[in-house]
Amino acid sequence: MFSFLSSLAFAVTIGLSAATEPCNHAPSVWCSSEEIARSCGVVDQCRRNVWAVNDKAKPVNVTLYYESLCPGCRAFITQQLFPAFNKIRKIMNVTLIPYGNAHEKQSGDKWVFTCQHGVEECIGNIIESCTIHIVQNISAYFPFIDCIEKSKELPRNIANKCARQHNLEKVYPDIEKCANGPVGDMVEHSMAILTEGLKPPHKYTPWIVVNGMHTDTIQEEAQRNLIKFVCKTYKGTKPSECMQFLQPDARNICQK
Ligand SMILES: *[C@@H]1O[C@H](CO)[C@@H](O)[C@H](O)[C@H]1NC(C)=O
Ligand SMILES: *[C@@H]1O[C@H](CO)[C@@H](O)[C@H](O)[C@H]1NC(C)=O
Ligand SMILES: *[C@@H]1O[C@H](CO)[C@@H](O)[C@H](O)[C@H]1NC(C)=O
Repeated sequence: MFSFLSSLAFAVTIGLSAATEPCNHAPSVWCSSEEIARSCGVVDQCRRNVWAVNDKAKPVNVTLYYESLCPGCRAFITQQLFPAFNKIRKIMNVTLIPYGNAHEKQSGDKWVFTCQHGVEECIGNIIESCTIHIVQNISAYFPFIDCIEKSKELPRNIANKCARQHNLEKVYPDIEKCANGPVGDMVEHSMAILTEGLKPPHKYTPWIVVNGMHTDTIQEEAQRNLIKFVCKTYKGTKPSECMQFLQPDARNICQK
């Protein structure tokens, strides 16, 4: 009796979800996302046969070495990286390293930075580094950094407004304090160490590293269409946002 009722409940659930979002996908893509599997009534089968293996897949590491005023960096952040983060952050681990082609020199107990696009770029780098250091949660700080990189104004002039627009007004005084003091020096110095530790060393910015690797092909594919590239690189069950980029053979993940 109990089992009859629960299978009835199961049938009703499937019936309902099928009614709201019908299964209009070919069988080869049924297990490609939980959403599609649910609409096709095959969640259990996918979970047993496909996802159990795939769901342990690690997110794709995407690390960006950049500097705040470089036009190519702004374009990559605002047109590729931030939009991709908004769509597929669950399969992507983004790390931002604002330093780029800068240089540093120790002077007493301070670090002095010089930047390719002048002193305002160094200030922008330090504001962004301090924000990363203080806020920690990339979902909370990336909209703010995207806002600065989108703006035609100098980072130091727009940061406060971006903080207000993106819910960081409470921590903004801490960010300012960091950026204007020894903590900012230290945090930016740690970005310098990460940048100077690159193997191979970076030759330009934006410099894109995916799963610890940089090649011309990775750079080109990431700059052309980052969502497509990350979807392709990710080893686990592809989220529905990836569907449009999958090759017919790559979609056959329900087959035995
Ligand atoms: C994400 O990247 C950071 C910094 O590169 C790394 O320490 C962390 O282990 C990564 N997390 C995952 C889940 O890969
Ligand atoms: C990170 O920030 C986002 C956006 O503000 C928020 O929704 C989320 O709960 C935060 N996550 C953690 C672990 O604090
Ligand atoms: C991402 O980086 C972390 C930390 O270095 C590493 O443990 C993990 O294996 C990397 N993920 C992939 C998919 O390479």
